[in-house]
Formats: sequence, structure tokens, C-alpha cells
Amino acid sequence: MGMLRTFRSVVQFDSITLDRVERRLKKAACIDDYRRIAKRRLPFGVFDYIDGGAEDERTLARNVTTFADLEFKPRVLRDVSNIDTSTTIFGRPAAMPLILAPTGFTRIAHSQGELAVARAAAQAGLPWSLSTMGTRSIEEVAAVSDGEKWFQVYTWKDRGLVEDLIKRAKASGFTAIWLTVDTAVLGRRERDVRRGMTLPPKVGLGTLVDGAIHPSWTIDFLRNDPITFANVVGKNVEDGSTAVSLAEHVARQFDQALSWDDIDWLRSIWDGPIVLKGIQTVADAKQAVAMGVEGIGLSNHGGRQLDDAPAPISLVEPVRQELGDSGTIICDGGARRGSDIVKAIALGADAVSIGRPYFYALGAGGERGVAHMLNFMREGLERTMALSGVRSVQEIERKLVRWK
Ligand SMILES: Cc1cc2nc3c(=O)[nH]c(=O)nc-3n(C[C@H](O)[C@H](O)[C@H](O)COP(=O)(O)O)c2cc1C
Repeated sequence: MGMLRTFRSVVQFDSITLDRVERRLKKAACIDDYRRIAKRRLPFGVFDYIDGGAEDERTLARNVTTFADLEFKPRVLRDVSNIDTSTTIFGRPAAMPLILAPTGFTRIAHSQGELAVARAAAQAGLPWSLSTMGTRSIEEVAAVSDGEKWFQVYTWKDRGLVEDLIKRAKASGFTAIWLTVDTAVLGRRERDVRRGMTLPPKVGLGTLVDGAIHPSWTIDFLRNDPITFANVVGKNVEDGSTAVSLAEHVARQFDQALSWDDIDWLRSIWDGPIVLKGIQTVADAKQAVAMGVEGIGLSNHGGRQLDDAPAPISLVEPVRQELGDSGTIICDGGARRGSDIVKAIALGADAVSIGRPYFYALGAGGERGVAHMLNFMREGLERTMALSGVRSVQEIERKLVRWK
């Protein structure tokens, strides 16, 4: 009896959670956990499309590990009882200096796709971006989110189509444009090559087996309307209704002749802020600002394009030094914690953007997964600020970090 009482006093049984999504998310303590859960739930080909990078995936790895080369110089005894993570990006309020980057084919992780991510971002007070290769349309996402929305532009050979997309984005209340400049041709993503990955996934013997091993994804996929490039359905380009490999699609539809001259063209059809997504040198950042571009998206497309391109976090400081106070710098790629946001801001970025972290979370738990992940990032940011002695984003200074 006595022993049982002692046992009861030290062991507390968690109330059993019946909700399966909640049960899964309770076990997610960091981004790698959402990744692990998504890996278990998604077909191999789908997971590798999201997770993979170009060639030897060295840039993919370094995007993340370079953050670990920075060390804090934390200050103490600073009354951190009130921490304010809010900021403004292009003059508009954001709950944190964090943006959800555009990703193509988002519904591949969950039928709700962009709708789920846009809703969770709006709820968290963060800007969210829709890709040209999105699988929900501009109008569909605008209908479910009154949050801050940015549109990402890939320049198709058919410029009329691009103009049409930008007009629709404007009409639907999108406030900024990312022009992706690192995808003249598609990087060689060897996991996709190996798996014969196509969009939408082609059903063959391999995918049937893969689908049967991952039944919850398969049921969700089969129960919902087919995945297409929702913004261009019915237009004179491939809309994703037939399976094509992404590399073939990009080669046929994207304009390899895109150049600095086209910035003026974009300016003539869009009067809001423009961010060049995929700037990888100080020289290009300088040229962009000289041409009146508002935003510098330091990015290598999450390591999916040119392998051995530099990690974005390593470019923040030299670019900020070159630009002085001009230009909004966004550090895109490899951020996995709130502490990574603090590091990027300390070196001179205005905001950080993330892709895979929300894609994994979407695969792990749909909209609730994304909300859970954004909360993890917010808590991490607040905790890091408190432990390093800064109370506001403005107080995050260069001397807060040093390269090891
Ligand atoms: C699955 C996936 C799809 C992506 N699709 C696009 C896209 O359509 N357009 C684009 O500009 N960037 C795209 N990106 C790149 C992201 O916008 C972002 O640059 C990258 O994910 C940041 O790195 P991170 O995943 O380490 O956070 C994609 C990234 C992933 C992982």
C-alpha cells in the first residue's frame, strides 16, 4: 500500500489525448521533430521533394550549420520582464521579423496546402507568401486570410500571363512581390531524379506501394480535388493537370533571358515593394538598391539551385555594410530556431524567412501543425531575447553576436 502511494506521488499520468493531431504535435519540440513526423507520414517521393537540395546538398546543409558558427555575447541584469518581438517590414506591422517564404506545390504535404499555411500565418501576425507554382489560387487564399500576403513571381516566357497574375495579386490585397532570380534553370535535385519525381505525383507501381505504406496521406490526397498549379489553370501553359517533371516544366516555361532590364518592366506593372529573391553577392545587392529595388532577399532557394552557393546568413553582414541604412534585407534559408532570427537581425537583416520548417509542420499536422511551429519560433525568439538581454527588435545590435 505504502509503496503504491509513493509511486502515485511521484508519477503523474498525462491525461490521455484522444486527438491524434494534438498527440503528434505534443512530441514536436523542435523543427527536426516536425521533419521526422512528416517523414513518417508522407510518401518517400513527396518527403524528398520537400526535404532535398541540389547535387551534393552541401549548400542545403551549410545554410543551417552556418548559424551555429555564431555565438552570443549575452548581457545580463537588464530587466527583461517585457519582451517585444514586433517589428515593421516595408512599413507594415509584423508580430516578429519572420516571413513565410513561397513554396510551390504546397498541397503535396496536406490537402489544405496554402490555405492552411496562410491562415496560420495570419493568426500569428506574420507575412505569408504565395508561389507562382502555388496549388491554391490568389483569390482562394485571399478569401481565407486577411493577413499580410506577398506574391512570388517566376517570369514565364509569356509576360502577359505574369502581368495578369500581378494584377490579380494587387486586386486581392497582396502587398509585396518577390521576384525569384535564382532559377534561370532548375537545380539538379538528385533525390527527385532518383525517384522519378513528377508534379503531380505519377501513379505507378512504386508510388502505389509508397502510397499504401503511407495511408493517411493517400486517403487525404484521393479524397480532395486534384492538385494543380491553381493560378494558371486553363491558361496557355502547363497547369499541373498532367504529370511533368519540374525540371522539364521550368525549362519550357521560364524565361532564361531574364535580366536587370526586366526590373524596370516589373516596376511598370507593380507599384508596391519588390524583393529580389536569390541575391548571393554584395555586388548584386548593390546593383539592386541602385536600381531602386526595396528588398534584398539573400537566398539560394534553400539549397535547391546552385550547390556551393554561400549560406545566406554569411552574406548578411557584408551586404548590410555595403548598403548602409538603405534596403530591406531578408535572410532566407536555414533558420530553424528563434535564436537564428536574433543572429540574422544582429548582423543587419530586417527579417528572416523560412520554407521547409512550415512545410514539415504542414505535413506533420496541417494548419494546427503550422500554428504549433510558428509558436515554437515565437517562444524561441522571446526566450533568446530574454537570455541575451534585449527587450525589443531594435535593441538587437551587432555586438550581440560574434563569429566563432
Ligand atoms: C518544397 C519547396 C518548394 C519551394 N518552392 C519555391 C517556389 O515555388 N518559389 C520560390 O521562389 N522559392 C521556392 N522555394 C524556396 C523557398 O522560398 C525558400 O527560399 C527556402 O525554402 C528557404 O530555405 P529553408 O527551407 O531552409 O527555410 C521552395 C522551397 C521548398 C523547400
